[in-house]
Amino acid sequence: MRTSNAEKKMELTSLLLYITIFFSALLVLILFSDGDLTLMLVERFGKRLSSVKGQVYWIVGASSGIGEYLAYELVANGAKVVLSGRRENELQKVQAQCLIIGKKAGLSETDILLLPVDVTKLELHQQYFDAVLKHFGTLDVLVNNAGRSQRAEWMNIDIRVDKDLFEGNVFGLLNLSRTVIPHFLAKKKGQIAVTSSVCGKVGAPCSASYNATKHALHGYFETLRAELTCRGILVTMLCPGPVFSDLLSACATDTYGQVQFRTQLAYCVCNLFSFLYV
Ligand SMILES: NC(=O)c1ccc[n+]([C@@H]2O[C@H](COP(=O)([O-])OP(=O)(O)OC[C@H]3O[C@@H](n4cnc5c(N)ncnc54)[C@H](OP(=O)(O)O)[C@@H]3O)[C@@H](O)[C@H]2O)c1
Repeated sequence: MRTSNAEKKMELTSLLLYITIFFSALLVLILFSDGDLTLMLVERFGKRLSSVKGQVYWIVGASSGIGEYLAYELVANGAKVVLSGRRENELQKVQAQCLIIGKKAGLSETDILLLPVDVTKLELHQQYFDAVLKHFGTLDVLVNNAGRSQRAEWMNIDIRVDKDLFEGNVFGLLNLSRTVIPHFLAKKKGQIAVTSSVCGKVGAPCSASYNATKHALHGYFETLRAELTCRGILVTMLCPGPVFSDLLSACATDTYGQVQFRTQLAYCVCNLFSFLYV
């Protein structure tokens, strides 16, 4: 049966109508959403937070900021956690708070392990991981969250500063992940999460070495994802924008060994201006 011209016109009009409705809905979503769309969809339709219950998470960089608050969210949902970083006194405060929050989810003291770690001490990585396995017998997720920021102009940066930032922000996390992966491969399951940054996606001014370390993390860990997803290992790259934290309480400059202290407000303003240039 042949379709008449009028019917063809109707079909075309309906198609155009559907396309217009789809893109209008998308536009409304984009205009009124306050975050990354993929993330929002995963939050709405992805795994429930309760799925972390009973899993063992090792947060490296848990003594403040993003890592600290991730720990609270995890224990509130019944996950067991290993809290790591260099500042033991800060870790103790986080551990105490985790216990208060975690008790409501049925956790006890033994479910929250405090393990001081310096990621730049590569020779100690196996020892750190052995301590995790000794305590929990297993590990499900390694959260590579440790990081140090920087404020400096590109052309003034001493090359030793670049190397220094790569030691902690990249090689430390890389080597720790390599230490843990054989365990994940043996149980055909595991997840590596890496806190990169928006600065791992675009080059923002005034922190070239920091930006480069975050870009390097994508190079290493996206390759790992390509190699190991088929063997049950998940690799998740987290790319936050500016977040209030201790990140700039001690950040690198252009001079080797120098640390600059800035207020959080200054940091925010600095970031805002930085992104205007991008
Ligand atoms: N704040 C932001 O706007 C922002 C935006 C995008 C991405 N990020 C990233 O998010 C992550 C967390 O930063 P944050 O903002 O939450 O700042 P933060 O409060 O300063 O947290 C940084 C964490 O890294 C740990 N760390 C640093 N060097 C370490 C080392 N050598 N060994 C072990 N742990 C080390 C710190 O612990 P100790 O000092 O106790 O060692 C601390 O727990 C970083 O990777 C950062 O680059 C932050």
